[in-house]
Amino acid sequence: MQKRIFLGSIALAVATLAAGGVMAQTSNTFKIGLILPMTGQQATTGRQIEAAARLYMAQNGDTVAGKKIQLIVKDDTSLPDVTRRLAQELVVNEKVNVLAGFGITPSAMATAPIATQSKTPMVVMAAATSSITQASPYIVRSSFTLPQVSVALADWAPKNGIRKVITLVSDYGPGLDAEKYFKERLTFNGGQVTEALRVPLRNPDFAPFLQKVRDGKPDALFVFVPSGAGAAVMKQFLERGLDKAGIRLIATGDVTDDDQLNDMGDGALGVVTSHHYSAAHPSAMNKKFVEAFGKANKGLRPNFMAVGGYDGMRVIYEALRTSKGQGGGDALLEAMKGQIFESPRGKIFIDAQTRDIVQDVYLRKVEKKDGQLYNVEFDVIKDVKDPGKAK
Ligand code: PHB
Repeated sequence: MQKRIFLGSIALAVATLAAGGVMAQTSNTFKIGLILPMTGQQATTGRQIEAAARLYMAQNGDTVAGKKIQLIVKDDTSLPDVTRRLAQELVVNEKVNVLAGFGITPSAMATAPIATQSKTPMVVMAAATSSITQASPYIVRSSFTLPQVSVALADWAPKNGIRKVITLVSDYGPGLDAEKYFKERLTFNGGQVTEALRVPLRNPDFAPFLQKVRDGKPDALFVFVPSGAGAAVMKQFLERGLDKAGIRLIATGDVTDDDQLNDMGDGALGVVTSHHYSAAHPSAMNKKFVEAFGKANKGLRPNFMAVGGYDGMRVIYEALRTSKGQGGGDALLEAMKGQIFESPRGKIFIDAQTRDIVQDVYLRKVEKKDGQLYNVEFDVIKDVKDPGKAK
């Protein structure tokens, strides 16, 4: 019954939207509804993406194809029910032209039906479970996927003396993707995952899990936790003396997150991760990006979330420019597909078939540069598609 009422209200909302859509199309404003976790456990993601979106606008102006861009930022506190309600309000009341943001997978999944029913392009700037782009044909992703970045590390590990691994992931979409793709590839390469541990997403206590890892004596512990939780893992890994027990920490770059890395201390030195963005990426474009981002945000270092937001804005601006603001959501979506451009992370491509991002994946090691900790890239795998789409 409750479900029927909910679906009914969506149908009504969408009917209202269809009438209002004409108005939105002829209006001289182009609205981007940016839904982010600005408070709560994922707040750093919201802060990074909002700052990046505003930087993009400051650098590229707020008028595109004769339309004034209006950014409407909403805080979903990373609760998917709130994300869905905000998305519905933005579509129905504000008549936004694009939905964007989405700090965690459950928020993106909860919004997908609204994007489909209202034909509103939805740019996922953070969430990174492989299957998200399959939840709606209106979704385009500017972040990354966990399978995309996990496989590279499972290729690197056995070549570097790591055969026996315990995995530790947050127990939801991206964590399960990381666990599965890391394990499959490591096994294929002759290594072995001896135990697969999963910690809750909300308020995790890593201590009992790390004790298990200590007892299991693997060559390495592989970790995925979402942006914002990495520092706690690093601290407890060191406090429990796992490094001294000869267990290496390897992880996706979500753990040595540039937002927190410099505060993790020298214990983080030498940790090898794989990811698509490092603030230390040595390109001219990235140097400019990091400097401008810091200048606009009291010295804050951009992380991979910021880059997802910055590039997502580029995808939206370019789609509006080439579709000339004509033709509504479908034309805008078409113009998002197939975009190829240089990002602060390197060259990226929005695959027209999957609407997912194709990008280089880097192996990096935490090193000190000018007294600060950075993820220094030492190898690259070019043009990596999401392996989750191959099946
Ligand atoms: C996700 O929920 O999809 C997610 C969040 C933070 C990350 C990666 C994935 O760092």
